[in-house]
Amino acid sequence: MAEKKDIICFCTGTTKQKVIQLIEDGATNIEKISSATGAVTGCAGCDVSIMELLDEYKTQ
Ligand code: FES
Repeated sequence: MAEKKDIICFCTGTTKQKVIQLIEDGATNIEKISSATGAVTGCAGCDVSIMELLDEYKTQ
């Protein structure tokens, strides 16, 4: 199983932990995570992984 510290977006070096923290702080969609971290602004290959984290960690 992947570690939370693993990088999820290789273009920006954004970690899973950072994305999970943003979701727990209230980010409800990929646009908010993208604007906070720059993730998805490169190759966009990380979008599916980030959406999976959104599904897993969002509380509403
Ligand atoms: S891996 Fe996230 S934009 Fe390329």
